[in-house]
Formats: sequence, structure tokens, C-alpha cells
Amino acid sequence: MTFAAQILTLYPEMFPGPLGISLAGRALADGRWSCSPIQIRDFAEDKHKSVDDTPAGGGAGMVLRADVLARAVDHALEAQPNAPLLAMTPRGRPLSQTRVRDLAAGPGVSILCGRFEGFDQRLFDARPIEEVSIGDYVLSGGEIGAFALLDACIRLLPGVMGAASSGEEESFEDGLLEYPHYTRPQIWEGRTIPEVLRSGDHAKIAAWRKAKAEEITRSRRPDLWERHRGVPDRSPSGARRETKED
Ligand code: ADE
Repeated sequence: MTFAAQILTLYPEMFPGPLGISLAGRALADGRWSCSPIQIRDFAEDKHKSVDDTPAGGGAGMVLRADVLARAVDHALEAQPNAPLLAMTPRGRPLSQTRVRDLAAGPGVSILCGRFEGFDQRLFDARPIEEVSIGDYVLSGGEIGAFALLDACIRLLPGVMGAASSGEEESFEDGLLEYPHYTRPQIWEGRTIPEVLRSGDHAKIAAWRKAKAEEITRSRRPDLWERHRGVPDRSPSGARRETKED
């Protein structure tokens, strides 16, 4: 089955861009996914083909018009009624590996990429759109976010990653960051590969990797560490629930 990606953008020439080379590029050539950029401006109806206007209430920047965007969105929904419709915006729910896995298991995605100050809110009120963010920083448009989301999905499609297991032990799959990797030479600038990795004792190696993954997660990402240990959340008072190991 082909994972079908529709990308609604003012810059369709950006696609497939970086997704046309390497792993995703080979998968595209092999028909494991398809890439259909759609020009939002084609859905503008005035003679200037305008897609945006000044913000109601005043202020800087321009806002993408609900009427024009809705026509583009309706076109995408008609072409792929079963694919989730996502909009890339810093206001969205942060993208997670869990969501990526779900998306990659489905028929594809339609992705709306914004520019300017954002979208007219009525678009989100009137259409089934899931707002997605790729992090707490502001990009100049949603296209870079769409690349990130698509890349994360494509590498999980059947037959795309060489060794099927290489996706299972990596960062986030079990809520932990990945353990460190090493390869030859055995000694480099006086630094050696940890002895345990040369022991051939698979149980010991697995235990070492687990301990390292936990250590790295704990020091770099206390938020992930707490979740991994099963702390559901902080109560409104700020008090913390008991954890597995407390
Ligand atoms: N568009 C602008 N900033 C973004 C972000 N952080 N995530 C997703 N889309 C965006």
C-alpha cells in the first residue's frame, strides 16, 4: 500500500525536496509513498489570487483567509477522505513518536502549511483539522515541519528501513533516549569502546544498554524520565504522586 502525502502549501516547488533523496527518496521511487503538493493559491478566486489579509483588530503581519484555505482543504479531503488532515503550527499539539507511528500505519496524511501570522481561526472551527507543532520555536512556515513529520513517518513504512529491528530500539520507542553506540576502531584518540560491548555476553550488553539509556534520559530529559517511571502528572497543587521506585 502506498502512503499518500498531500501537502497544501504556497510553495509546492519545495516538495519532495530533501525527501527526494536518500532513504525517503528511494522509498518514493519504489512507490512506498506518494507526494502530491497542492498550491493553495489555486483556490483563491479574486483577480489578485490573494490568500491572506490584514488581521481583524489590527496588528502586524497577515492572516491566511478561511474561505480560500477551506476550498483547498475540501479539495484535499475529497481526494483523500480517510487521511488525517493536519496543520503545521507552533500552537499545535507537539508531535510525538506515538503519533508518528499511528500516522505511518494509516493511508497517508494531508498537511496544511501556514505562512505569515497564521490561519483565520474559523478554519479550525469549521473543518476537522489537527494542529501539530514540531517544537517550541517559530519557523517561517509549516513546510519544514511537514518535512520533519513526513520523514518520521516514511522511515517507518514497511520495507523502507533495511533491518526491521532498527526502528525498535531507538530513542522514544520505549519512552527512553537511546543508549550510546560505538564502532571500530577499538581505540580512537586514546578512547576505548566499553569492554562489555566486546564481551559477547548478550544479556550483559542488554543490561548495560538499558542502564545507559536510563542514565541519559534521566539527566537530559527529566520530563521523559518521569513519564517513563509512570508518574502520570503533577496534581494541580504541585504535589507529586508516588513513583514506581520511590
Ligand atoms: N510553523 C511555524 N512554526 C512551527 C512549529 N514550531 N511547528 C510546526 N509548524 C510551524
